[in-house]
Amino acid sequence: MRGRFITVEGGEGAGKSSNLDFIRQLLEASGKQVLFTREPGGTELGEAIRELLLGHKHTGMADDSELLLMFAARAEHLHRKIKPALIEGTWVLCDRFTDATYAYQGAGRGIELSRIAQLEQWVQGDLRPDLTLLLDLPIEIGLERAGKRSAPDRFESEALHFFETVRSGYREIAKQQPQRVKVIDASVPLPDVQRQITAVIEQFLA
Ligand code: TMP
Repeated sequence: MRGRFITVEGGEGAGKSSNLDFIRQLLEASGKQVLFTREPGGTELGEAIRELLLGHKHTGMADDSELLLMFAARAEHLHRKIKPALIEGTWVLCDRFTDATYAYQGAGRGIELSRIAQLEQWVQGDLRPDLTLLLDLPIEIGLERAGKRSAPDRFESEALHFFETVRSGYREIAKQQPQRVKVIDASVPLPDVQRQITAVIEQFLA
C-alpha cells in the first residue's frame, strides 16, 4: 500500500523541530517506516536552493524568484525522495510543504494564490499531503522563542506585519480544508501540545 504523506507547518518559533521528532516517534511506535525530510531542502539540490533562499546574500530577490525557487526545490524533492518513498510504502513526514508557499509567498508576499495553485498542479500533479498539522501560536510568542535560538535568516528578518499575514494565510487554509489541516494550539506548554498532537495522529491512524 502507498505510504501516507504528513506535513507539519507553523510560523517562526512554533516548536516544529521538537514536535516533528515527537510525531516521528508516534508513527514509528505504531509500526510505520518513516522518512523524515524538510522543505525547502531534502535533496542535495534542494538544500543548495535552501541556502540561496534563507541566506542574506540575495536579500531583495524578486518575489517571483523566491516562489519559483521554492517550487524548483520541491520538484526535485518529489522526484528524488517523496514519490519513491510513498510508492514503496514508506510514510513521509515533511517539515513544511506547499501550504508554506501559500502562507509565505501568497499571503506574506502578496502573490496571487491562483498563480501558486498553477505551479502546485504542474509540479505535484494530484499529490497533496494526506494530513497536515498546523502549529499555531501568537506571533509575539513565536518570534521571541525563535529569536533566542540563532541569528535570524532572511525570512525571520521580516517585519511583524509579514508574520501576521503569514499566520492568517495558514489559518485560512485550515478553515478551507478542515479535513486535512488540523490546527494545534502551540502556545500552551509542550506536554499539552503533545497531547493535542497524539489525539490527531491516533485519529488519523484509526
Ligand atoms: P524553517 O523550515 O527552518 O522554518 O525555514 C524555512 C523558511 O522558509 C521559513 O521561514 C518558511 C520559508 N518557506 C517559504 O517561505 N515557502 C515555502 O514554500 C517553504 C517550504 C518555506
